[in-house]
Amino acid sequence: MTVHNTEQFEAWNGDEGQVWAAGGPGGRDVEDPDAELTRRLLDAALVGGRDRVLDIGCGTGDTTLMAASRAPEGHALGLDLSGPMLDEARKAASGRGNVTFEQGDAQVHPLPDGGFDVAVSRHGVMFFADPVAAFANVRRALRPGGRLAFICPQPPEFCAWYVVPVAALLGMPPEPPEGVVAAYPGPAPAMFSLSERDRVGDVLGRAGLTQVSIEAIHVPHRFGATAADAADAFLASGPTRYIVERDDTLTWDEARRRLRAALAPYEGPGGVLLPAAQWLVTAGR
Ligand SMILES: C[S@@+](CC[C@H](N)C(=O)[O-])C[C@H]1O[C@@H](n2cnc3c(N)ncnc32)[C@H](O)[C@@H]1O
Repeated sequence: MTVHNTEQFEAWNGDEGQVWAAGGPGGRDVEDPDAELTRRLLDAALVGGRDRVLDIGCGTGDTTLMAASRAPEGHALGLDLSGPMLDEARKAASGRGNVTFEQGDAQVHPLPDGGFDVAVSRHGVMFFADPVAAFANVRRALRPGGRLAFICPQPPEFCAWYVVPVAALLGMPPEPPEGVVAAYPGPAPAMFSLSERDRVGDVLGRAGLTQVSIEAIHVPHRFGATAADAADAFLASGPTRYIVERDDTLTWDEARRRLRAALAPYEGPGGVLLPAAQWLVTAGR
């Protein structure tokens, strides 16, 4: 396997991948907003019938399985960097004839030329080291007239699921969100790399994709069943590591305590839900 995204390879095969594989962010025990995101994504991608579907950064495979159900005479391939997450995906797909998974870096993975009718991604396309190369690789794998649809976060100040825990770790109020985003001491987290609308259009255009459409949607982010789960999920994330490792006065125990306290008000019967804002992007080859 050739991997150019070595930083993301390490994160998603390490703590971050383990938490997601165990059903951390989002969780899989009750109906959760991620299912709503997937419905919106597959509707936008017009997945159906005999479609050959590529799911980029498929994680534990929820979206891949739903795509395969919508294309019963077709096939869905889930591609991801993370071994632990693909292990979970393969377990979930056991017995399903039209789903396969491969481990690889979407930026360079040798996908078959024109081998797919449609490529989709739920939050799996923001981590590329070279996004133009990655989307060009995906474009090459689409047949002429093929479709791309993905969901990615809008800028961090519109995402309370990011602002609330980061503010807690920094020991500041979550309002105004722009202040929290500015106070974050690290580089902008990779998950927001496509959060600027103009950048999405620019990257896709340079990758040779056409008919780009970008719609704002607002589906809450579910972190887990309880505030303790949500705190653990955020503890495993890149931004937490960045803050804790650079603040000598902040222990991991104190970080966990602050996150639990900040996330507790968002806990309800449906789990820990925080406001979120996403882009639903479609394009074509
Ligand atoms: C935020 S998770 C989303 C997972 C899944 N799509 C979901 O919605 O549950 C991002 C995923 O992208 C994968 N990923 C990151 N960079 C990748 C790359 N270059 N090629 C393939 N997968 C990648 C990670 O391993 C991780 O599983």
